[in-house]
Amino acid sequence: MKLLEGKKALITGVANEYSIAYAIAKALFEHGAELAFTYQSERLKEKISGLIEPFKPAFIAELDVSKDEDIARAGQKTLTAWGRLDIFLHCLAFTPKEDLHGDFYKTSRQGFALSNDISSYSLIALSNALLPAFEAAGGGSIIYMTYIGGEYAISTYRLAGVSKAALEISSKYLAQSLGGKNIRVNGISAGPIKTLAARGIRNFSDLQHQAELFMPLRGEMTAADVSGTAVYLASDLSRAVTGEVIHVDKGFHCVRG
Ligand SMILES: NC(=O)c1ccc[n+]([C@@H]2O[C@H](COP(=O)([O-])OP(=O)(O)OC[C@H]3O[C@@H](n4cnc5c(N)ncnc54)[C@H](O)[C@@H]3O)[C@@H](O)[C@H]2O)c1
Repeated sequence: MKLLEGKKALITGVANEYSIAYAIAKALFEHGAELAFTYQSERLKEKISGLIEPFKPAFIAELDVSKDEDIARAGQKTLTAWGRLDIFLHCLAFTPKEDLHGDFYKTSRQGFALSNDISSYSLIALSNALLPAFEAAGGGSIIYMTYIGGEYAISTYRLAGVSKAALEISSKYLAQSLGGKNIRVNGISAGPIKTLAARGIRNFSDLQHQAELFMPLRGEMTAADVSGTAVYLASDLSRAVTGEVIHVDKGFHCVRG
């Protein structure tokens, strides 16, 4: 039995074949979901169009989450094309390099605002824009990606971690305010995975090797490791789960050495 037959899923955050969003899209598709995609810029549209073609997307839409008009258009396009929405994957983040790598106490006001705007506020704004489509479906599932650097201070993650903390608590307030509409909001806290965004983190491979030393389950984390949990959160199997963050990190979150 396919778990997501008849469900419509809007996917953000595919930048290339290593993106976590790509692995999740593949798994949702294999479980029967119909997919639509957003891309951040024209340049990325060209890069990903061949990649997502096998999923026969219902539509693709430009969405730079720093722009209110793009967010509104994504909501309208979803409603016009499908008349409903069952699953929304928020799989994007951005923190300026200076504020990711510099001394944390020197974090700039502008960098703080930008990181939180792109990485956290976008979940709230998109949930609002997509609300009519979710309501038409009688409810649905919002899934976002987070990292343990939002719970503990991880020296290489810094401001990005502050934005993940804001994202996680925002998701709980969203779960509270959207629960009456049968819309669930849950996060996946993934272990370190080599992606484009991860390459922007200084000493990422040290961080990855350190995690691998302590992870109860052995071996390198891959985006495919995360996708099964996304299928569960997208499906009716998780119908009573909301405001939750599931750690998919080979157990790293539960050990201290
Ligand atoms: N790679 C990891 O180790 C890891 C671990 C835990 C959580 N995450 C999270 O997973 C998510 C996906 O990241 P990834 O690792 O697959 O990297 P990725 O580089 O493949 O994806 C990041 C995406 O964010 C998008 N993005 C950035 N700014 C945007 C904007 N203004 N508007 C629209 N889109 C924008 C990019 O276009 C890109 O598609 C992020 O939220 C990231 O923080 C990653």
